[in-house]
Amino acid sequence: MAFREYKIGARLFGVALGGSMLITLYMPTVDMTSVAVTETGLTKQLSYGRIGGFSYEDPFLRGEGKPKTVTLTKDPSTNADMEAVQAFVYEPGIPFPSGINHPRTLGPGVTEVSLDKGRIGEADDTAGAVFLIRRGTHQGETLHYIENATATRGWKYDQVLNAGGDANTAYVGSGKIMFVREGCWWCHTLLPEQTQDWQYFGIPPRLGDYNGESPTAFGSDRKAPDLLHVGSRNSSKEWMMMHFFNPRLVQPHSIMPRYDYLWGDKDAEGKAIDFDGWRAAYNDYAAGETLTPPDVPSYASNSEIRYLMDFILSLK
Ligand code: HEC
Repeated sequence: MAFREYKIGARLFGVALGGSMLITLYMPTVDMTSVAVTETGLTKQLSYGRIGGFSYEDPFLRGEGKPKTVTLTKDPSTNADMEAVQAFVYEPGIPFPSGINHPRTLGPGVTEVSLDKGRIGEADDTAGAVFLIRRGTHQGETLHYIENATATRGWKYDQVLNAGGDANTAYVGSGKIMFVREGCWWCHTLLPEQTQDWQYFGIPPRLGDYNGESPTAFGSDRKAPDLLHVGSRNSSKEWMMMHFFNPRLVQPHSIMPRYDYLWGDKDAEGKAIDFDGWRAAYNDYAAGETLTPPDVPSYASNSEIRYLMDFILSLK
């Protein structure tokens, strides 16, 4: 190729690069306030409000407005011992999932039994409700259905929360929101495939597993282990805490980001967490100057990491 053509090519490239740089650097600095808002613009901002589902202040993205999963070993109204059950507690005002609002979406059989035996049609989200998953039969077929324990057994949401106590309560729903918000799905799938994949990651999901879930978070591009059944292969709370605080504590070459900020400002005792001090001690450890890494702080019961841990450990 002649040198002249090379020069033309290089100039054209320079013009294209310069042009795109101009757009990138100059355009965003055009003063937005020099443009007057229209009536449509005013109507939109006043009717939508600040919260648009994508800002961190959105109660949804903070994991608020979600049910709690309580493991019960005693009947909350009679206090009699019983076989452990999981109760799904909806405090007043917490929106119900689609299966309760639109029972038909539960599918053949499950709809009928949930309505007739489970009395889910009587649930009222302004008064709060407690749901259980039960095994039953419909036209000779075994299935699982929803029981509205507030109607069938008189269990009140607050009785169940008290009977379970914080130790037996899991913030699974709020944790799922953390999983979505933090973008865990960029690297992790919740979808073992029908290949030899499942031999390590566990059974692939079935179609009905997604009935009523929104949003699903099965991910698309796996850069890290599938997590659909992670709680079955690793249920260690200590390992998970270390791994979330700084994955390099347990996997020296991990590319996973640290999620220490999900701890918030205070630990379980209400003491301020000294992140700078912790990192300085960790750097000493990583440099081989100390033998053991610093301890990971305990977490407060209403911290975002608690939500996330409850969700991850619920993936059985
Ligand atoms: C940049 C990619 C990336 C992101 C984002 C990411 N991870 Fe990971 N994660 C990894 C990799 C790689 C591993 C395997 C190495 C290791 O254990 O650190 C892993 C491992 C894990 C494990 C252990 C899996 C097992 O098989 O035992 C869990 C649990 C986990 N991640 C949860 C999460 C959660 C929850 C989030 C979001 C808050 C998240 N990860 C975000 C890359 C990522």
